Amino acid sequence: MSTLDVAVIGTGRVGLPLALAFADRGLNVLGVDRSPQILEAVRDGRMPFEEPGAPEVLQRVTAAGTISWSDRVADAAAADHVVITLGTPSFSHIEIDLRDIRSVLDDLLPHLRPGTSLTLRSTIAPRTTAFVAGYLRKHRDFRIGEDVFVAHAPERIAAGRFFEEIVSLPCIVGGVGERSGEVVGELFSVFGAPIVQTTPEQAELAKIWTNILRYATFALPNLLMMDCEQYDANVFEVIDLINRDYPRGGMKLPGFTAGTCLRKDFAFSEERSTAPGMLLAASRVNESVPLFLVEGAKRRLGSLENKKVAVLGLAFKSATDDERDSLSHKLIRLLERELADVAVHDPWVTTPTQPLTDALDGADAVMVAANHPEFCTAETLAAIAACATPSALVIDPWNCWGAGQVFGYASELAALRTA
Ligand SMILES: NC(=O)c1ccc[n+]([C@@H]2O[C@H](COP(=O)([O-])OP(=O)(O)OC[C@H]3O[C@@H](n4cnc5c(N)ncnc54)[C@H](O)[C@@H]3O)[C@@H](O)[C@H]2O)c1
Repeated sequence: MSTLDVAVIGTGRVGLPLALAFADRGLNVLGVDRSPQILEAVRDGRMPFEEPGAPEVLQRVTAAGTISWSDRVADAAAADHVVITLGTPSFSHIEIDLRDIRSVLDDLLPHLRPGTSLTLRSTIAPRTTAFVAGYLRKHRDFRIGEDVFVAHAPERIAAGRFFEEIVSLPCIVGGVGERSGEVVGELFSVFGAPIVQTTPEQAELAKIWTNILRYATFALPNLLMMDCEQYDANVFEVIDLINRDYPRGGMKLPGFTAGTCLRKDFAFSEERSTAPGMLLAASRVNESVPLFLVEGAKRRLGSLENKKVAVLGLAFKSATDDERDSLSHKLIRLLERELADVAVHDPWVTTPTQPLTDALDGADAVMVAANHPEFCTAETLAAIAACATPSALVIDPWNCWGAGQVFGYASELAALRTA
């Protein structure tokens, strides 16, 4: 018997909290990553990114000696259970990019032993689990579900809520062959959340359509926001008209809809969809929001050349330090292409940004790109009133301050403070 219970390959935003959680249940865990920065941080007892509760668990499992680290994928083959939490980006050709997963499989193949389970925790396109099982069968002649066990157990936890949701969200397990689902279900049962057994394809579809549901849901208010501009209508008032006391309402609010999951997971459906196009349209809507805001600013301010624009928020959503696939970067690029002078403030991210008052100082426009809790306060409102030009345009698709204007003015916001 191996002394290593679980190896987690890819200790990024998903893999690291998962490895820590397994180790915190007393399992002997190996975290494998090729990133020297991640390994250096965790060996030092530091989290490489924000995840509430993780620093304490890291300390605890380090002291208990239930976690160790490696940069060699082959070391993972010593574990009874291997869990893959690698990134799965999408090529721009609307196709899953499986290069990291294939490279790790090639490193594991010569070392895999009968009895091992291999769980794909990453988000994957339908039929990827069957491909991985077939790859092991083809190259090692394993009987999947009898000699080795392969399953998809997708991660559906939201960043920032890992330790709260790992013990409560139903864990979907789609196993290949006779016993894979049972073996992997038993592994994940250490967290105490319900285990829901299904087929690999249903597990894959359930995960990507969990994200597609959110992506498409947010595309609707974003499209409505753009349509409202055309009709000189107020999107917040229209949404209120839709939802108020209406039992079948539920329109969400507009905002930047992207991030490393939402921006690409729809493509995993589109790559084989027999009715393609609808999700591409949803993507085009969400991806157009930064341009819509820049064009709206130009309609009100004229040319943005040499105008100072303060962008509040670099992260892809509220209350995270994760900037990956953030639409804020797109917004900044578009503003720079208008020759605007862009200043950025974000209290969450590790990328250096300007202090709030410096970013706002003399700004002709303020754009709220991420609705961090710090921004939606009377203090930030006061800082805008004090620092930006009195006629500054304040662009807030999130309705951070309840002003109910995607395109408002600093003077109106100041009035709101005293109202
Ligand atoms: N971030 C989220 O909130 C979230 C939520 C649900 C699902 N997912 C899915 O989970 C998966 C992982 O996402 P993530 O955000 O944790 O990605 P990530 O980029 O933060 O982590 C992936 C890690 O794998 C490592 N890696 C890549 N190739 C490697 C190799 N050959 N050997 C060793 N290590 C290697 C990278 O260094 C990185 O640290 C993706 O499929 C994603 O779509 C993410």
